[in-house]
Amino acid sequence: MSQKLAMQEVPGALALEVTDLTVAFEKQGRRVEVVSGVSFSIAAGRTLGVVGESGCGKTMTSLAVMGLTPAHGLVSGSIRLAGQEMVGAPERVWEDSRGARAAMVFQEPMSALNPVMTIGRQIAEVLVRHRRMRWREAHEHAVEALASVGIPSPGLRAKDYPHRLSGGMRQRAMIAIALACRPAVLVADEPTTALDVTIQAQVLDLMVEMQERLGMAIQFISHNLAVISEIADEIVVMYAGKVVEKAQADDLFNAPLHPYTRGLIETLPDPQRRVARLPVIPGAVPKLDVDFQGCRFAGRCRLADDHCRAVSPSLELHGAGHWVACHKVDV
Ligand SMILES: Nc1ncnc2c1ncn2[C@@H]1O[C@H](COP(=O)(O)OP(=O)(O)OP(=O)(O)O)[C@@H](O)[C@H]1O
Ligand code: SF4
Ligand SMILES: [Mg+2]
Repeated sequence: MSQKLAMQEVPGALALEVTDLTVAFEKQGRRVEVVSGVSFSIAAGRTLGVVGESGCGKTMTSLAVMGLTPAHGLVSGSIRLAGQEMVGAPERVWEDSRGARAAMVFQEPMSALNPVMTIGRQIAEVLVRHRRMRWREAHEHAVEALASVGIPSPGLRAKDYPHRLSGGMRQRAMIAIALACRPAVLVADEPTTALDVTIQAQVLDLMVEMQERLGMAIQFISHNLAVISEIADEIVVMYAGKVVEKAQADDLFNAPLHPYTRGLIETLPDPQRRVARLPVIPGAVPKLDVDFQGCRFAGRCRLADDHCRAVSPSLELHGAGHWVACHKVDV
């Protein structure tokens, strides 16, 4: 039995464990950390939401988990996928892992789907490669996989090329490909951002349903806290490459402790009026290719003082499972 299947049969076993992950690039002779000391874990059957504004390092974190960081990126720390350490593993090990231990869905399915190969063939390929099925058997499984993600007339759709499907159906097809080998972890990077609200809700429901069926862990990335709130058990808030707050979803919404998280929650639409209560947090995520002293949020924080600007706050525990990086949590 493969290690990943064994993982899924143990409720609470860690499907993904990321410790002190750093992703750095050389830019004009300087080392720039776009992901800095990030740690989190996801148990089988659970969903971790990763939220933060554009440029906070969400995608770079998920690409690192998939071993797909751009070639000149330097990855350090530890990434354990279904128990196996992946940082420093040879590309051959990553190739075996992708699809089987961890699979990814993206915002734009057309960037992940092969435009000149039928949907059915794309699913079958994964099964032939990772599950060593024969082509005929793999094609039968591909049709079943399309049916399982709610694609009508799956036998016919399997013969279609991606451009023939609507946006929502393409996203379903990409989920079918990602889940074909029952990965221990599904990394979903803004999977519903490009979809209209109704289709977005359907795709979220599908992911939850597939998780109940297959027991995989989900790392769900979005800049939209409202979408994260629909699906996440635990939430990591990232700001400028660092984790600033991490907590169970209920705790984060009911008692946010970091000024950035509070700002994100204040900008959520008011359910009564369906408009944002406050405009976006003033200011922008700082450029990372300058030397940083102190808290990366200081330039936008109402509470910032000289100590904040001089000393970077470390992530500390403030209640069960509730981590915050701020000098003024108790203010
Ligand atoms: N190929 C690359 N080389 C160097 N730096 C990069 C590269 N791609 C992205 N970056 C930088 O890494 C940082 C994090 O980017 P990332 O794409 O992870 O952000 P994000 O949180 O996913 O944002 P978005 O919400 O816009 O998707 C940014 O500062 C970005 O400029
Ligand atoms: S450490 Fe200071 S600047 Fe940073 S979030 Fe906390 S109060 Fe604001
Ligand atoms: Mg991104």
